[in-house]
Amino acid sequence: MATDWEREVEGLTRRNAIGRGFAAAGALALVCSFDHLPEKHPTVRYVRGRARSAQASSGLFDPFQVDLPISPVLRPVASTPKLDQYVVTMKPGTANILKGLPTPILGYNGIFPGPTVRATRGRKVEVRQINSSGRPLNVHLHGGVTEQNSDGYPLESIPNNDERTYHYASAQRGATLWYHDHSHGDTAVTLFAGLAAFHIIRDPNEDQFDLPQGDYDVPIMLQDRAFNADGSFRYRVNVDLGFRGDTLLVNGAIAPRMRVERRLYRFRILNSSNARPYTLALGNNRQFIQIASDGGLLPKPVVQTSISVQPAERVDIVVDFRQFGVGSEVILRNTVGEPSTTAVLRFDVVKGGAEEARVPKTLLPMEELPPVNAQRGFPLTFHGLGTAQWQINGQGFDPNRIDARPRQETSELWTFSNFSQRTHPMHLHGYHFQVQSVNGKPPAPGDAAWKDTVAVLPGSTVTIRPYFDYFPGKYVFHCHAAEHGDMSMMGQMQVSR
Ligand code: C2O
Ligand code: CU
Ligand code: CU
Repeated sequence: MATDWEREVEGLTRRNAIGRGFAAAGALALVCSFDHLPEKHPTVRYVRGRARSAQASSGLFDPFQVDLPISPVLRPVASTPKLDQYVVTMKPGTANILKGLPTPILGYNGIFPGPTVRATRGRKVEVRQINSSGRPLNVHLHGGVTEQNSDGYPLESIPNNDERTYHYASAQRGATLWYHDHSHGDTAVTLFAGLAAFHIIRDPNEDQFDLPQGDYDVPIMLQDRAFNADGSFRYRVNVDLGFRGDTLLVNGAIAPRMRVERRLYRFRILNSSNARPYTLALGNNRQFIQIASDGGLLPKPVVQTSISVQPAERVDIVVDFRQFGVGSEVILRNTVGEPSTTAVLRFDVVKGGAEEARVPKTLLPMEELPPVNAQRGFPLTFHGLGTAQWQINGQGFDPNRIDARPRQETSELWTFSNFSQRTHPMHLHGYHFQVQSVNGKPPAPGDAAWKDTVAVLPGSTVTIRPYFDYFPGKYVFHCHAAEHGDMSMMGQMQVSR
């Protein structure tokens, strides 16, 4: 007799087989070789009608056919106890996503997703980024507490065939960060083309918690894509909704499977999709434990049965596979997707050795913040025309305008009010914040922690409390739906003493 699990697997597989596929021949021609990515703001084009046809679908898109890939860890070219130095080349490459059909990508070291930086709190990191991509790019360490001149200001760029060395302090808490291009107006296409990778800071002081480590600490990058019949990525501009693809990639593989031992695993989940949100749940709604958010460990673990991950957000969860028998197939699914973007990952449970990891009752307390020094309001609106279709405070991005001047070492209250029909994952550079309230109520326990990105749902109001510690300087804040940020939902703050 089929168990619920098996029925679920079957259902997902069947739906997926008909739900996705290549773009139908003759469907709107689109951009997609990266030698000719649109140079400036591409013309806005809303696509009507079918983007793909059922006949064109093929087994290539079935879930759970390949093992979960893990991006290689970047090796330093030089290391001292105080500093790790790396060299990365941003260049075109190919990814093997569809069997026998290579996909051209733009990647860090030419791979997709890019190589993972594993940093240690207290050891600085220097990354020499060489641009051989054929277009101007820059690099932003998302979630990093970084000096202004290494933050990847959107109007700064590394010209093609040039390079730049970025300096990262690694002074912040242990956390799951990531790096990506931040060229203003182009981020949607460069992110889509493949320029995204993990940068994980480990704090040796957190080792006392005995959380899963090594092979049991697994980065999971979620992205949606669509494909042309030649295997290339297919991008369609939609400034309103943002890009939505019909195929879900996990670490660059279509809804893969992963063999797991019956023990605890930590998954560092990053949504590096342009604009698609996910709500993740395990089959049968089994529990997992959220232990961290964007800025690092939570004060205490939070038991969850589902968790939402908006673009650019990170959640670290621990799954205890001892609750499943050997031979179980446990599906991680997206409950807010279409049929073809529902299957995320299948865990195939095998026997495990003795467990050494655990999840303690308490993790890292939140620091006391200095009293609130200012309150600011930021209405978020859709304007619909021109190059500033998405606006903060009725304005698009203007590098010559400063929207907020916080004093260093203070905290403030910032209220984002969303008067539009779309969700805006609002992100601050340079500093972290606590979520103070969502529609006047306290945030969900998993969001009551240090964050750098928070979802402001349509019609809702979110108040955050940023803490302007560490470095003074000029930093941007923006919507992380990539198409919204490009067009041009971005402001800037100048933090000074
Ligand atoms: Cu992911 Cu401005 O950042
Ligand atoms: Cu950022
Ligand atoms: Cu937005």
